[in-house]
Amino acid sequence: MSNRETFYITTPIYYPNDKLHIGHSYTTVAADALARFNRMKGLDVMFITGTDEHGQKIENTARKNGKTPKEYVDEIVASILELWKLMDISYDDFMRTTDERHIRVVQKIFTKLYEKGDIYKDKYEGLYCTPCESFWTEHQLVEGKCPDCGRDVQPVEEEAYFFRLSKYQDDLLKLMEENEEFIEPKSRRNEMINNFLKPGLEDLCVSRTSFKWGIPVPFDKDHVIYVWIDALSTYISVLGYMTENDEKYKKFWPADVHLVGKEIVRFHTIIWPAILMALGEPLPKKVFGHGWLVLEGGKMSKSKGNVVDPVVLIERYGLDPIRYFLLREVPFGSDGVFSNEALINRINSDLANDLGNLLSRTVTMIEKYFKGVLPSAVAPAPIDDDLKELAIDTRRKVEESMDSLEISNALVAIWELIGRANKYIDETTPWILAKDPSQQDRLGTVLYNLAETLRIISVLISPFMTKTPTKIREQLGLAEVDKFTSWKSLDSFGKVEAGTKVKKGDIIFPRLDVDKELEELEALLPTSSEEEEDLVNVAEISIEDFEKIDLRVAKVLSAEKVKNADKLLKLELEVGDETRTVVSGIAEYYKPEDLIDKNLVLVANLKPVKLRGILSQGMILAASDDEDNLVLVTVDDTIKSGSQVG
Ligand code: MSP
Repeated sequence: MSNRETFYITTPIYYPNDKLHIGHSYTTVAADALARFNRMKGLDVMFITGTDEHGQKIENTARKNGKTPKEYVDEIVASILELWKLMDISYDDFMRTTDERHIRVVQKIFTKLYEKGDIYKDKYEGLYCTPCESFWTEHQLVEGKCPDCGRDVQPVEEEAYFFRLSKYQDDLLKLMEENEEFIEPKSRRNEMINNFLKPGLEDLCVSRTSFKWGIPVPFDKDHVIYVWIDALSTYISVLGYMTENDEKYKKFWPADVHLVGKEIVRFHTIIWPAILMALGEPLPKKVFGHGWLVLEGGKMSKSKGNVVDPVVLIERYGLDPIRYFLLREVPFGSDGVFSNEALINRINSDLANDLGNLLSRTVTMIEKYFKGVLPSAVAPAPIDDDLKELAIDTRRKVEESMDSLEISNALVAIWELIGRANKYIDETTPWILAKDPSQQDRLGTVLYNLAETLRIISVLISPFMTKTPTKIREQLGLAEVDKFTSWKSLDSFGKVEAGTKVKKGDIIFPRLDVDKELEELEALLPTSSEEEEDLVNVAEISIEDFEKIDLRVAKVLSAEKVKNADKLLKLELEVGDETRTVVSGIAEYYKPEDLIDKNLVLVANLKPVKLRGILSQGMILAASDDEDNLVLVTVDDTIKSGSQVG
């Protein structure tokens, strides 16, 4: 038996109703980084993921595709498994909710809760949205309409089983109030307490008779178990809960962290703990609700046709740049923005310039000045201390960030070290030392310190990037052995050995030509969710929603083309007393000089975004048609700038 501490981490299990997009891969890559980090620290890690395969939506999609549900999900699940392989996801187990080993456990759980009286049979009276195939309660409706599509709902009545969620209301409130760490980030905890627990919980309908594609209620075969009990139980069925083979359950449960996207925090922090309380099992230690990766114009969604395919990106740039981008770009708990430009900038600045250059400069200098043989560090100087101390201290910073699930901050800390090492080259000027025969020992020491710092960096980045660490060590001439690669090897500076032969290899992150890449990527991927929105699918909004949009008259003070961007103009706008900068994609339609003094309509409270490095503070309105015509919305110049429109 191992006496190492355990670490159990889960991702949500994915709906296999379509191919996964880059946003889905964020959750899994983040969990993978945490799993790898904890393994490196010596913990016994269990990392699970899987697929959530039942439900009416899947049943319908399969039918539309002329397949049985199982045939349909088998194909999608195969593509998900391939994606995780491509992304080097190091899961320890993968649970499909259609696996026999899962089905048996869910049925036992359902029966146990029924026998205990926490599940009971009653009439389900609800409101049904036929196009969305969703049931709603009165208070979930928005102005009496379906909260998803805004259409009318019909009252329906059917027999169903219910879970006594309301019984656990007080215990759940106590759990959240007393255990501050149960939900993170904190903002999500407040949302759960104030929006869901305090207003009161209703019992939850946990079976359906309106479709068949689900796990049958074992003692009432007309009913299938509704999707959340089925899906959430994966976290324990995968460990062999309620089977003779439950060693893994005993060893790993309760989970250290359920990593979930922010929209499913409610299921994980209200329904799931209540089920566990009813079963008399311990609760997970933490549910972490991470932010989304969104496109500049909003959420990625298949129906908007704006999903970004991770496979396309990985084929083009390799895996590590994509893993790095995902983990770096979504800050702790908040949303991150995906844009082709942001991706290319990260690759060029953080990877090609900072890390790639550090390696190639170091190895090139060792080849040039020492015939490729790593010199020893016999001539230290005080200036070295700062670099060495940071190299050792970065481990602590990474550990602190990772232990509090601040993955992007861990990368920030590592890139500070990379920046420090590049600065050390500029400070020590090895090319000047090389000209002075009396400085050979000093030059050797500088290069030794750089090589060792790079080795340390190669270890520090291992949880996040799976290919680059070895590539760095290959160029440094280091074998893949514990003393160079393990987390423990970060305990002191000076592990690389003088006399090692370095081997300059290919550039690890080639620099990208921004314009060429952007052009080619635009043809491959959408860049904004505003594209191709189908008018008939645009949901109706209420007057209150409309009033949230602050439309103002804005007078053009100046306009100019944005460098290296054919479509963009930068406008300076007078909005009452204020001056705003807005970047707009109208360069193909308007000459800058023709815009001066025009009174346009500005969406003044749109969240600012950076476009080509310029902060764009709002959006100007234009009308466009299928024939590629575009005309700006203008206002008569009798109206002063800053006036409200609407
Ligand atoms: N099947 C449920 C989960 C059941 S867990 C017991 C589900 N599946 S899902 O496929 O829709 O989503 C899986 C995960 O992907 C969720 O955590 C969700 O937040 C995440 N993401 C989906 N789109 C995302 C982004 N654009 N960005 C980041 N994460 C996103 O929900």
